[in-house]
Amino acid sequence: MTINLYVTDHHGLVAEALVARVRDAILTKPDAVIGLATGRTPMLAYQLLGQEARAGLDLTRARFVMLDEYLGLDPSSPDSYANVLRENFIRPLGLDDEQMLTLRTDAADVVAEAAEYEQSLNALGGVDLQILGVGRNGHIGFNEPGSPFDSCTRRVRLADMTRLDNAPTLVYETAVPEHAITQGIATILRARRIAVVATGASKATAIARCLTGEVSSDLPISALHRHPQCELIIDRAASNDPDFSGPIMRRTSAHAPVSARG
Ligand code: F6R
Repeated sequence: MTINLYVTDHHGLVAEALVARVRDAILTKPDAVIGLATGRTPMLAYQLLGQEARAGLDLTRARFVMLDEYLGLDPSSPDSYANVLRENFIRPLGLDDEQMLTLRTDAADVVAEAAEYEQSLNALGGVDLQILGVGRNGHIGFNEPGSPFDSCTRRVRLADMTRLDNAPTLVYETAVPEHAITQGIATILRARRIAVVATGASKATAIARCLTGEVSSDLPISALHRHPQCELIIDRAASNDPDFSGPIMRRTSAHAPVSARG
């Protein structure tokens, strides 16, 4: 399998490209199921989608599902990913909270919550377009390095790097939780299409390893080589590509060698 690579000049064009993928998904299937990443990278695209919605893009029949959620926060915390998505996506787009399938921060039985989430995703007919970001360490969702490629939704411990990187995003909590619940890599790979967004030089190493290195559970994003319809939408800084000639370049990545691991 290959990953389709789309390199643009800057973050704004990455956001526009992601908006175009969401728009296409909705125009093709008005009741599409869209998987939403949280994190900083897709937020501009979510703002732009608000403009599209106000200009007439009808998202009222679409369903949205969360990719991951912190564990141990009060559900009312503004830092829970459900609340971040409500504030930055659902409400500005004029959507109903009921349109988003959420993961609970305060699930008493996380194993049961994870199993129920998998069932709910299946009941929705699966995800048509999954939006992903990527961590500096190559994580997707909160599948940190070492996550098995056959993993489903489950409780995970966040890597120190992830907790460090996410600390500045907190608006209320004083520390990033140690644990989270995340769609597993196998769960993510079941989505019919995947669009990954990455911007900035801090992501360049993970991107370069994904495009040129081996497919290995040491680098969770490399699992996307096993998906038939995955696109990596990145800016110049994340591409670290001397051949980049801007403003937009399309390329299909070389086949990465498949490792026995993962
Ligand atoms: C968020 C998520 C994470 C982020 C990643 C990048 O739901 O699953 O994998 O996408 O940590 O975060 P940003 O975009 O803040 O660099």
